[in-house]
Amino acid sequence: MVDLRIVAAGFAVALFSQAALASPELVRSKNCVACHHVERKMAGPSYKMIAERYAQDEAAAKVLSEKVMKGGAGNWGQMPMPPQPTVSQDEAEALVKWILSQR
Ligand code: HEC
Repeated sequence: MVDLRIVAAGFAVALFSQAALASPELVRSKNCVACHHVERKMAGPSYKMIAERYAQDEAAAKVLSEKVMKGGAGNWGQMPMPPQPTVSQDEAEALVKWILSQR
């Protein structure tokens, strides 16, 4: 006989670990990795640099998720970040939340 409580708990754990993985996966599937690395500066700043710069900035999540979708330049150098039309609002927020946790 299968204990349903154990099955339910296992299911919850599986769901939770998928949510935790969603953002690194998303960074790959949205091709952010073409220009960003967690530790190293590439065409764009590293996610660590971004997380450190905005650590004290409460508006950062909102401002940065806009920037991820619409693109922009001038915060890190002359090289612009192109708009990312395949990234939805929810995805942008999830990505930024994950980036800001990379300190
Ligand atoms: C073609 C290269 C390129 C791609 C692809 C790219 N970025 Fe960027 N990104 C940049 C550059 C260059 C900057 C620096 C812009 C600046 O100086 O304001 C940047 C800056 C950023 C910043 C900091 C913005 C700020 O104003 O401080 C975040 C957050 C970011 N990118 C997230 C992402 C995410 C998430 C993705 C994938 C959906 C992505 N980037 C894809 C080049 C890229």
